[in-house]
Amino acid sequence: MSEILAFHGVQKQYPDRPVIRFPDWRLAAGNHGLVLGPSGCGKSTLLALAGGLLTPERGTIDLNGETISGLTEGERDRRRARLVGLVFQTLHLVSALSIANNLALAQYTAGQPIDRQRIRHLLAAMGLESMTNRMPETLSQGQAQRIAIARALVTRPKLILADEPTSALDDASAKRTASLLLEQAGTCGASLLIATHDHRLRGIFPTVLELEPEPA
Ligand SMILES: Nc1ncnc2c1ncn2[C@@H]1O[C@H](COP(=O)(O)OP(=O)(O)OP(=O)(O)O)[C@@H](O)[C@H]1O
Ligand SMILES: [Mg+2]
Repeated sequence: MSEILAFHGVQKQYPDRPVIRFPDWRLAAGNHGLVLGPSGCGKSTLLALAGGLLTPERGTIDLNGETISGLTEGERDRRRARLVGLVFQTLHLVSALSIANNLALAQYTAGQPIDRQRIRHLLAAMGLESMTNRMPETLSQGQAQRIAIARALVTRPKLILADEPTSALDDASAKRTASLLLEQAGTCGASLLIATHDHRLRGIFPTVLELEPEPA
């Protein structure tokens, strides 16, 4: 089976910080994974490495069968635009643009033609069609969270990286958001990798990667 992501001997070091050593692991294409561990263990760093936002000092990272860890920043940006959808805890929607135009901007940034029909269908499928012409600051936190998911999906990525998408939510909303991510990833045929310290998600993911606490 082909792999969407593989880490081998990966080490990352921020200036004047201890080295973070990541275990070797792989995620099969179409499978979903959860990265768990206490605050500071390197979960967000792992996602940033997986999406090519950071590069490791040692080891290799393969994305969709290609080693991205040795590529230049511009080359990694292009792979990310083509293959990866990012969902962050803070939303980064552009406040001057409507919801539909935020999604159109994501397509444009990924070098894709703007596809208004795709945007309409996706928002409808996620129960968000009434948000189409709203401005970001008029949304509730839960609505904005779902829009952030829609924005990550609108480019049809092969890998969705979500950093703490449920930690700030109550149990019912956390479960709904996780189900929505899984359902939409399934519809796109994408793999979903969630980094969280939220153990409520453990039961619903087949692949769980536990990172060790950072050294004292
Ligand atoms: N830009 C940075 N510069 C220096 N150190 C950093 C930077 N980003 C993260 N670190 C350090 O790297 C380690 C891992 O951080 P990371 O954000 O990946 O952890 P995390 O598991 O996502 O934590 P949390 O659960 O709190 O989000 C921590 O010790 C953190 O202080
Ligand atoms: Mg984090």
